[in-house]
Amino acid sequence: MTTSTPTAKNLVWHQATVCRQDREALRGHGSAILWFTGLSGSGKSTLANGVNGELHRRGVAGYVLDGDNVRHGLCQDLGFTDADRVENIRRIGEVAKLFLDAGVITLTAFVSPFQGDRDRARALVAPGDFVEIYCAADLATCEQRDPKGLYAKARSGQIKHFTGLDSPYEPPQNPELVVQTGTGTLEEAVAHVLTALEQRQLIPSGPA
Ligand code: ADX
Repeated sequence: MTTSTPTAKNLVWHQATVCRQDREALRGHGSAILWFTGLSGSGKSTLANGVNGELHRRGVAGYVLDGDNVRHGLCQDLGFTDADRVENIRRIGEVAKLFLDAGVITLTAFVSPFQGDRDRARALVAPGDFVEIYCAADLATCEQRDPKGLYAKARSGQIKHFTGLDSPYEPPQNPELVVQTGTGTLEEAVAHVLTALEQRQLIPSGPA
Protein backbone atom coordinates (compact mmCIF):
# COMPACT_ATOMS: atom_id res chain seq x y z
CA MET A 1 0.00 0.00 0.00
CA THR A 2 1.41 3.43 -0.90
CA THR A 3 1.55 6.15 1.74
CA SER A 4 1.85 9.94 1.70
CA THR A 5 3.35 12.23 4.33
CA PRO A 6 0.89 13.18 7.10
CA THR A 7 0.83 16.61 8.75
CA ALA A 8 1.06 15.11 12.25
CA LYS A 9 4.47 13.97 13.48
CA ASN A 10 5.54 10.75 15.22
CA LEU A 11 3.39 8.44 13.15
CA VAL A 12 4.73 5.08 12.07
CA TRP A 13 3.00 2.97 9.40
CA HIS A 14 1.90 -0.35 10.89
CA GLN A 15 2.32 -3.23 8.49
CA ALA A 16 -0.78 -5.41 8.38
CA THR A 17 -0.46 -9.15 8.99
CA VAL A 18 -3.02 -10.04 6.34
CA CYS A 19 -2.60 -8.24 3.03
CA ARG A 20 -4.77 -7.54 -0.01
CA GLN A 21 -3.32 -10.47 -1.96
CA ASP A 22 -4.20 -12.84 0.92
CA ARG A 23 -7.79 -11.61 0.87
CA GLU A 24 -8.03 -11.86 -2.91
CA ALA A 25 -6.65 -15.40 -2.83
CA LEU A 26 -9.14 -16.39 -0.13
CA ARG A 27 -12.11 -15.10 -2.12
CA GLY A 28 -10.90 -16.06 -5.59
CA HIS A 29 -11.29 -12.69 -7.27
CA GLY A 30 -9.36 -9.46 -7.72
CA SER A 31 -10.09 -5.98 -6.45
CA ALA A 32 -10.22 -2.58 -8.10
CA ILE A 33 -11.75 0.85 -7.86
CA LEU A 34 -14.50 1.36 -10.45
CA TRP A 35 -14.81 5.13 -10.55
CA PHE A 36 -18.18 6.11 -12.09
CA THR A 37 -18.35 9.77 -13.10
CA GLY A 38 -21.02 11.78 -14.89
CA LEU A 39 -23.67 14.44 -14.51
CA SER A 40 -26.35 14.24 -11.84
CA GLY A 41 -29.06 12.01 -13.29
CA SER A 42 -26.67 10.27 -15.70
CA GLY A 43 -27.26 6.94 -13.98
CA LYS A 44 -24.02 6.48 -12.01
CA SER A 45 -25.68 5.11 -8.86
CA THR A 46 -28.14 2.98 -10.81
CA LEU A 47 -25.36 1.44 -12.88
CA ALA A 48 -22.98 0.98 -9.93
CA ASN A 49 -25.73 -0.75 -7.94
CA GLY A 50 -26.70 -2.85 -10.94
CA VAL A 51 -23.11 -4.02 -11.36
CA ASN A 52 -22.75 -4.63 -7.64
CA GLY A 53 -25.95 -6.70 -7.62
CA GLU A 54 -24.55 -8.95 -10.31
CA LEU A 55 -21.19 -9.21 -8.50
CA HIS A 56 -23.02 -10.24 -5.34
CA ARG A 57 -25.01 -12.85 -7.27
CA ARG A 58 -21.67 -14.27 -8.49
CA GLY A 59 -20.22 -14.37 -4.98
CA VAL A 60 -17.86 -11.41 -5.53
CA ALA A 61 -17.32 -8.91 -2.70
CA GLY A 62 -18.29 -5.42 -3.89
CA TYR A 63 -19.31 -2.19 -2.23
CA VAL A 64 -20.89 0.99 -3.60
CA LEU A 65 -19.76 4.34 -2.23
CA ASP A 66 -22.52 6.72 -3.32
CA GLY A 67 -22.28 10.52 -3.44
CA ASP A 68 -25.65 11.31 -1.90
CA ASN A 69 -25.18 8.66 0.83
CA VAL A 70 -21.61 9.61 1.75
CA ARG A 71 -22.71 13.24 2.06
CA HIS A 72 -25.08 12.11 4.84
CA GLY A 73 -22.12 11.05 6.99
CA LEU A 74 -18.41 11.24 6.22
CA CYS A 75 -18.85 14.33 4.03
CA GLN A 76 -21.84 15.96 5.75
CA ASP A 77 -19.74 19.07 6.43
CA LEU A 78 -19.21 19.67 2.68
CA GLY A 79 -21.31 21.59 0.17
CA PHE A 80 -20.93 22.11 -3.57
CA THR A 81 -18.38 24.89 -3.93
CA ASP A 82 -15.36 23.90 -6.03
CA ALA A 83 -13.24 23.61 -2.87
CA ASP A 84 -15.80 21.38 -1.12
CA ARG A 85 -16.05 19.11 -4.15
CA VAL A 86 -12.24 18.80 -4.24
CA GLU A 87 -12.25 17.75 -0.57
CA ASN A 88 -15.20 15.41 -1.11
CA ILE A 89 -13.36 13.57 -3.86
CA ARG A 90 -10.08 13.57 -1.92
CA ARG A 91 -11.80 11.78 0.97
CA ILE A 92 -13.54 9.32 -1.33
CA GLY A 93 -10.27 8.55 -3.07
CA GLU A 94 -8.72 7.69 0.31
CA VAL A 95 -11.72 5.61 1.42
CA ALA A 96 -11.76 3.77 -1.90
CA LYS A 97 -8.05 3.02 -1.45
CA LEU A 98 -8.82 1.39 1.92
CA PHE A 99 -11.61 -0.69 0.38
CA LEU A 100 -9.20 -1.73 -2.36
CA ASP A 101 -6.76 -2.90 0.30
CA ALA A 102 -9.67 -4.86 1.80
CA GLY A 103 -9.76 -6.80 -1.48
CA VAL A 104 -13.16 -5.46 -2.49
CA ILE A 105 -14.43 -4.37 -5.91
CA THR A 106 -15.15 -0.78 -4.91
CA LEU A 107 -17.67 1.15 -6.96
CA THR A 108 -17.73 4.92 -6.44
CA ALA A 109 -20.68 6.92 -7.79
CA PHE A 110 -19.82 10.61 -7.54
CA VAL A 111 -20.32 13.44 -10.02
CA SER A 112 -16.58 14.10 -9.49
CA PRO A 113 -16.70 16.90 -12.08
CA PHE A 114 -13.00 17.82 -12.18
CA GLN A 115 -10.43 15.81 -14.12
CA GLY A 116 -7.68 16.87 -11.71
CA ASP A 117 -9.54 15.37 -8.74
CA ARG A 118 -10.15 12.10 -10.55
CA ASP A 119 -6.48 12.01 -11.54
CA ARG A 120 -5.46 12.52 -7.90
CA ALA A 121 -7.69 9.63 -6.82
CA ARG A 122 -6.15 7.51 -9.58
CA ALA A 123 -2.63 8.42 -8.45
CA LEU A 124 -3.31 7.04 -4.95
CA VAL A 125 -3.28 3.48 -6.25
CA ALA A 126 -1.23 1.36 -8.64
CA PRO A 127 -1.78 1.49 -12.42
CA GLY A 128 -4.61 -0.87 -13.31
CA ASP A 129 -6.31 -0.56 -9.91
CA PHE A 130 -8.35 2.47 -11.00
CA VAL A 131 -10.96 2.04 -13.71
CA GLU A 132 -12.54 5.34 -14.72
CA ILE A 133 -16.03 4.79 -16.12
CA TYR A 134 -17.71 7.70 -17.85
CA CYS A 135 -21.50 7.54 -17.60
CA ALA A 136 -22.14 9.43 -20.80
CA ALA A 137 -25.58 11.00 -20.83
CA ASP A 138 -25.98 14.50 -22.18
CA LEU A 139 -27.25 17.38 -20.11
CA ALA A 140 -30.61 17.56 -21.91
CA THR A 141 -31.30 13.89 -21.14
CA CYS A 142 -30.28 14.24 -17.48
CA GLU A 143 -32.36 17.37 -17.09
CA GLN A 144 -35.35 15.73 -18.73
CA ARG A 145 -35.05 12.74 -16.36
CA ASP A 146 -34.47 14.95 -13.31
CA PRO A 147 -35.05 12.02 -10.91
CA LYS A 148 -34.67 14.15 -7.77
CA GLY A 149 -36.21 17.35 -9.11
CA LEU A 150 -32.87 19.12 -8.63
CA TYR A 151 -32.47 20.52 -12.15
CA ALA A 152 -35.86 22.23 -11.81
CA LYS A 153 -34.78 23.70 -8.47
CA ALA A 154 -31.45 24.83 -9.94
CA ARG A 155 -33.18 26.42 -12.95
CA SER A 156 -35.48 28.34 -10.62
CA GLY A 157 -32.49 29.56 -8.61
CA GLN A 158 -33.17 27.49 -5.46
CA ILE A 159 -29.87 25.57 -5.86
CA LYS A 160 -26.59 27.29 -6.71
CA HIS A 161 -23.44 25.73 -8.22
CA PHE A 162 -25.39 22.95 -9.90
CA THR A 163 -23.19 20.75 -12.10
CA GLY A 164 -23.86 21.26 -15.80
CA LEU A 165 -25.73 24.52 -15.21
CA ASP A 166 -23.72 27.03 -13.17
CA SER A 167 -20.89 24.68 -12.17
CA PRO A 168 -18.67 22.93 -14.74
CA TYR A 169 -18.39 19.23 -15.59
CA GLU A 170 -15.15 18.10 -17.22
CA PRO A 171 -15.76 14.85 -19.17
CA PRO A 172 -13.01 12.25 -18.71
CA GLN A 173 -10.13 12.74 -21.14
CA ASN A 174 -9.02 9.14 -21.22
CA PRO A 175 -11.46 6.87 -19.35
CA GLU A 176 -11.00 3.10 -19.32
CA LEU A 177 -14.69 2.74 -20.17
CA VAL A 178 -17.44 4.88 -21.66
CA VAL A 179 -20.95 3.61 -21.00
CA GLN A 180 -23.80 5.25 -22.90
CA THR A 181 -26.19 5.71 -20.00
CA GLY A 182 -28.38 8.21 -21.85
CA THR A 183 -29.50 5.52 -24.28
CA GLY A 184 -29.74 1.72 -24.04
CA THR A 185 -30.95 -0.41 -21.17
CA LEU A 186 -29.55 -0.85 -17.69
CA GLU A 187 -28.97 -4.55 -18.45
CA GLU A 188 -26.78 -3.63 -21.43
CA ALA A 189 -24.80 -1.14 -19.37
CA VAL A 190 -24.28 -3.66 -16.53
CA ALA A 191 -23.16 -6.31 -19.04
CA HIS A 192 -20.71 -3.81 -20.59
CA VAL A 193 -19.01 -3.19 -17.22
CA LEU A 194 -18.98 -6.87 -16.20
CA THR A 195 -17.38 -7.87 -19.50
CA ALA A 196 -14.64 -5.30 -18.88
CA LEU A 197 -14.05 -6.77 -15.39
CA GLU A 198 -13.83 -10.28 -16.85
CA GLN A 199 -11.41 -9.12 -19.55
CA ARG A 200 -9.21 -7.60 -16.87
CA GLN A 201 -9.40 -10.93 -15.02
CA LEU A 202 -10.69 -9.19 -11.92
CA ILE A 203 -13.58 -11.62 -11.73
CA PRO A 204 -14.10 -15.11 -13.12
CA SER A 205 -16.12 -15.32 -16.33
CA GLY A 206 -19.85 -15.51 -15.71
CA PRO A 207 -22.40 -17.86 -17.23
CA ALA A 208 -22.36 -17.78 -21.06
S1 ADX B 1 -19.34 15.92 -6.29
O1 ADX B 1 -19.38 16.98 -7.31
O2 ADX B 1 -18.75 16.37 -5.04
O3 ADX B 1 -18.70 14.69 -6.80
P1 ADX B 1 -21.46 14.26 -5.31
O4 ADX B 1 -21.48 13.14 -6.28
O5 ADX B 1 -20.82 14.04 -3.98
O6 ADX B 1 -20.88 15.59 -6.04
O7 ADX B 1 -22.96 14.71 -5.02
C1 ADX B 1 -23.80 14.95 -6.09
C2 ADX B 1 -25.25 14.68 -5.72
O8 ADX B 1 -25.70 15.68 -4.80
C3 ADX B 1 -26.12 14.81 -6.95
O9 ADX B 1 -26.43 13.54 -7.47
C4 ADX B 1 -27.36 15.49 -6.46
O10 ADX B 1 -28.28 14.53 -6.03
C5 ADX B 1 -26.93 16.23 -5.23
N1 ADX B 1 -26.69 17.70 -5.41
C6 ADX B 1 -27.20 18.64 -4.58
N2 ADX B 1 -26.76 19.86 -4.94
C7 ADX B 1 -25.95 19.70 -6.03
C8 ADX B 1 -25.19 20.58 -6.85
N3 ADX B 1 -25.16 21.89 -6.61
N4 ADX B 1 -24.48 20.07 -7.89
C9 ADX B 1 -24.50 18.73 -8.13
N5 ADX B 1 -25.19 17.86 -7.38
C10 ADX B 1 -25.91 18.31 -6.33
